Amino acid sequence: MTVLRIYQGDITTLKVDAIVNAANESLLGGGGVDGAIHRAAGEGLLKECKTLGGCKTGEAKITGAYHLPARHIIHTVGPIWQQHSPAEADQLLLNCYMNSLNICFNYGLEVIAFAAISTGVYGFPPDRATQIVVPFIRKYCTAHPGIQEIIFCCFDNETTALYEKALSPT
Ligand code: AR6
Repeated sequence: MTVLRIYQGDITTLKVDAIVNAANESLLGGGGVDGAIHRAAGEGLLKECKTLGGCKTGEAKITGAYHLPARHIIHTVGPIWQQHSPAEADQLLLNCYMNSLNICFNYGLEVIAFAAISTGVYGFPPDRATQIVVPFIRKYCTAHPGIQEIIFCCFDNETTALYEKALSPT
């Protein structure tokens, strides 16, 4: 059974098999969690990202983690909330989680930490995201045994409260 848990703080400090970055289609860095990851990982990450040819919204790509304590970084590109209908945005967001988890499954990665994809600069409502992401991940992990632990890395109190609610048994 996969354990789902919350960590509040900076994803760049986590010593896990993979952290999942909220990137943009260029994969060449930006602000928010993406900026923090590129700063902490160092120049090697940008150099590798330049070889990947970008990443479409909803898709995911894996790189090394360079100076980070994690083993890998999975870069996924969430939907920009304003550019889609709500139903389309939901589907694209779930594609991010599915494609990131597919990489983990294929690489045999066991402990994975997700940033709250799209819920910062990209404007996806955090409560809506949490409500669709948690059941999706539960279902995925049941169907794909081997993933030991999923960590929802929450940067702020509001996001932590939403995940606490979504993960509580009642
Ligand atoms: N560790 C964990 N979570 C963080 C960190 C951190 N160090 N810093 C911020 N967050 P965002 P998006 C949280 O805006 O909405 C970038 O410029 C943040 O509080 O980073 O997918 C990219 O290059 C929020 O809860 O990602 C893209 O252009 C969550 O991470 C664009 O932003 C996601 O916020 C992507 O926007």
